[in-house]
Amino acid sequence: MSKIIIFGNQKGGVGKSTITCLCANALSQAPFNYKICVIDNDKQQSIVEARSFDIEDGETVPYEVFKMSISEMQQRLQTLDEQYDLIFVDTAGKLDADEAIESQEITKALVYCDYLFLPFRAGNFNMDATLQYLKFLLKVQEQRADSQRPLKLCGFVNMYRVRSKVNDFLITEIKHLKQSGFPFMVNRLGNYTIFEDVDTLTSMYDEDTNNTAKLNFTVWLNEFLKIIAE
Ligand SMILES: Nc1ncnc2c1ncn2[C@@H]1O[C@H](COP(=O)(O)OP(=O)(O)OP(=O)(O)O)[C@@H](O)[C@H]1O
Ligand SMILES: [Mg+2]
Repeated sequence: MSKIIIFGNQKGGVGKSTITCLCANALSQAPFNYKICVIDNDKQQSIVEARSFDIEDGETVPYEVFKMSISEMQQRLQTLDEQYDLIFVDTAGKLDADEAIESQEITKALVYCDYLFLPFRAGNFNMDATLQYLKFLLKVQEQRADSQRPLKLCGFVNMYRVRSKVNDFLITEIKHLKQSGFPFMVNRLGNYTIFEDVDTLTSMYDEDTNNTAKLNFTVWLNEFLKIIAE
């Protein structure tokens, strides 16, 4: 049985697609060699588009990228479940303020997801939208509490800049969340140029990448793996 993982946030540009590709790249190759697919469910089709640019005819891919609606995914879930160890779903985030929770587009994806990792990025507009989204996630989690595959949530920080003035609010807020029992990753992902360059084929471990970025990602990835193994 596979694990279905979403990096989700209603806020755009927090790194959902980037981290999906970083993880899929790293974990589909040695030493992990997990069978992985990425289901691109976002209207923007960022990952599907990136893959179509990256790939040349006949080339083998480290992991599959599928363009799939949530209802198509639902229909194929049993086969996907048998075929893959990890399924990453890149979804549209946006919450519709006028819609009830059950009819939100994003809720449909969350019904099938085992783990949602919520990227936090410093900056007031980012934080407000993320915290609003978190409230929504907690409601979905409650609704799924008695299901066979309950939803597990975990926050983490992406694009962290060490000496940024906007970190204070982020750090205080995370402290509160942790105190209230919301799980949060200890390791943060920094803001690295190499992460901007992520494609859908190469792993950070293939090439001579920036050691600091690679080390930061490795430590973060190990924590991520521990969480999804629980
Ligand atoms: N840790 C990081 N360091 C540096 N740049 C990053 C990092 N994470 C993401 N980025 C960059 O930030 C931008 C937004 O990332 P990405 O497209 O992954 O966000 P997203 O949450 O998927 O956005 P959208 O909501 O539009 O789908 C991209 O240019 C990406 O390269
Ligand atoms: Mg995206």
